[in-house]
Amino acid sequence: MAMENQANEQKKPVILSGMQPTNDLMLGNMIGALRNWVVFQQQYECYFCVVDLHALTVRQVPAELRRRSLDVAATYIAGGVDPKQAAIFIQSHVSEHAELTWVLNTFAGMGECSRMTQFKDKSSQHSDNVNVGLFTYPILMAADILLYQANLVPVGEDQKQHLELTRNVAERFNFHYSPTFTIPEPFIPQSGGRIMSLQEPTKKMSKSDPNAGATIFLIDSDDQIRNKIKRAVTDSGTTIQYDEARPGVSNLMEIYSITTGKTVADIERDFEGKGYADFKIAVADAVVEYVKPVRERYNEIRSDVPELTRILQEGAEKARSTARKTLRKVYKKVGLVERT
Ligand code: TYM
Repeated sequence: MAMENQANEQKKPVILSGMQPTNDLMLGNMIGALRNWVVFQQQYECYFCVVDLHALTVRQVPAELRRRSLDVAATYIAGGVDPKQAAIFIQSHVSEHAELTWVLNTFAGMGECSRMTQFKDKSSQHSDNVNVGLFTYPILMAADILLYQANLVPVGEDQKQHLELTRNVAERFNFHYSPTFTIPEPFIPQSGGRIMSLQEPTKKMSKSDPNAGATIFLIDSDDQIRNKIKRAVTDSGTTIQYDEARPGVSNLMEIYSITTGKTVADIERDFEGKGYADFKIAVADAVVEYVKPVRERYNEIRSDVPELTRILQEGAEKARSTARKTLRKVYKKVGLVERT
């Protein structure tokens, strides 16, 4: 029986995903990605990393980056990832990520990397520091994914282009040598894949938005959440109807739909004849209820640093043993002399 279980375990398809510890996690990270990690964790062998090496592409305050990396790991668990099921780890603890990146760099084209929207956005946001790391950022991401032979990568819509690049690099490598990497599929939720800023609803919500009112953080207090939603930018209309031409109210409807489980049609019906003020109160209540348990669990988990450190160590060990196998195979295929 035990043997049978083991065999079944081994056949589980693989998931990898990660988030940058550049700030506290926010509602978009939860709705676009983390919530799906939790849904998938039983059927898949899961690897969830805190991508601290990616964060270095924008200047960080070292002490803050160190603290935030633990904050993000704690938020994964608070959001429902079970460390007994999934390997939760810090990217830099598994040096194979950086090593595979180097090899994959030689399989990615200058042209395709310069077409990446995130590269273009970040280069213009940080025009004083357009470093080479920013350019090869998606190759490190490809290494994250391909090291674990991931079948599925649950992410928000903004990562779709990076996934496409990962697939292209993997296919190119497989074609040039022989099948080595599993070609991963993105999983982007139909609803909630792109939560918008509360202040500029044509822009995505971002954890690094300098306008604090634009983003709901998962550790915001009930009052902070209520205030942010109350001040959310809508439009001069009065009805609660989903319409792409009205991004502010449509974004709030999407958030409300996900946090309550109601469909957009239900919401339109429930709020017929009611105005923005009533609707915003309902959205605020729903988001407060959605975020509160995450915040409470977060405070508990984050205060037990020895336990968190133990979880991350265990996660890194598990990740390392998988990553090492792939890297060894890659080094052999490209012709590097085996390390003894
Ligand atoms: P990051 O840290 O920007 O975001 C983490 C996850 O949250 C999703 N997300 C959103 N979803 C919906 N609406 C939003 N407004 C929103 N903002 C962010 C992101 O799509 C992502 O899934 N490059 C990645 C991190 C990464 C990674 C990986 C992801 C590095 N290696 C390997 C998957 C696999 C990033 O910057 O995510």
